[in-house]
Amino acid sequence: MLDYAVSWRGRCMKQKGIRKIAVLGAGKIGESLIGGLIDAGLVARDQVVATARHQERLDMVSSRFRVATTLDNAQAVRGASVVILAVKPQAMEEVLAGIRGRMTRQQLVMSVAASVDTAFIEKRLGPRVPVVRAMPNTPCLVRQGMTVLARGRFADAQDLEVARRIFEPLGRCLILEERHMDAVTGLSASGPAYIYVVIESLAEGGVKVGLPRDVATTLAAQMVLGSATMVLQSGEHPAKLKDVVTTPAGCTIDGLLELEEGGLRVTLIKAVVRATRRAAELIRG
Ligand SMILES: NC(=O)c1ccc[n+]([C@@H]2O[C@H](COP(=O)([O-])OP(=O)(O)OC[C@H]3O[C@@H](n4cnc5c(N)ncnc54)[C@H](OP(=O)(O)O)[C@@H]3O)[C@@H](O)[C@H]2O)c1
Repeated sequence: MLDYAVSWRGRCMKQKGIRKIAVLGAGKIGESLIGGLIDAGLVARDQVVATARHQERLDMVSSRFRVATTLDNAQAVRGASVVILAVKPQAMEEVLAGIRGRMTRQQLVMSVAASVDTAFIEKRLGPRVPVVRAMPNTPCLVRQGMTVLARGRFADAQDLEVARRIFEPLGRCLILEERHMDAVTGLSASGPAYIYVVIESLAEGGVKVGLPRDVATTLAAQMVLGSATMVLQSGEHPAKLKDVVTTPAGCTIDGLLELEEGGLRVTLIKAVVRATRRAAELIRG
């Protein structure tokens, strides 16, 4: 069984290898992907081509990553085995129109855009081009990302495997049904912003009680990293891990009481719900 799995996997890689990756829209997330993929050794610099709307942006990308760049999306997709669409949802229609008819079934299209479903892309790209939707987050840049993958109608197991090979070196990778993608966007793609606010606020607390700002920020950030690692590695419910820290009549319970009074839980829940709702609307502007 294992032999079969290994040889099947090997065949996938051979049939749909990664020769060249075109990143259409090398903005914040596109840049995180380019940096992460090169650092992880999945592709060499000369296997990447990046596009943007403005030359200034491309100058920045080429000096930072030393990859090929062009303003011409149609030129970028030529010869690419994988094309990653990393433009804003509102720019997707225009970008797809620019590469329509130039894509073949041998190429894999991956979209990281929120709100844009695989059916939208398939309809505009023409005959049965395989599309995999990915929802990564910016920590991909430091290879601690969270990416969820969902396949479209014409993508097969081999295409998903190629997509997984691209995103796995950048952090954790999960495969879900596409109907969950707006929720994923509201939680793990937007989530780093929520946690930066949490880290910033905790550091302010440290400053208020006399710690130097840089020390307070390091303490807060490392504590968040360690706590997240505990949840992932132990597999315990977060409430159980919280109880371990909270000794009777200690100081932590006083801190928790403040969090409850301030409505932290309900605020975070509402943040995910609101962002999920908005994620579904982005395609309309
Ligand atoms: N940011 C995140 O944390 C995150 C997480 C997951 C998914 N996403 C998704 O990733 C996508 C990009 O988001 P972002 O935050 O990276 O936005 P961004 O920083 O604004 O990047 C978008 C890039 O697209 C380029 N672009 C615009 N029109 C183009 C065109 N016609 N051809 C080629 N490139 C074009 C822009 O070029 P110029 O810079 O030259 O204008 C810009 O560099 C969005 O769909 C978003 O939903 C973002």
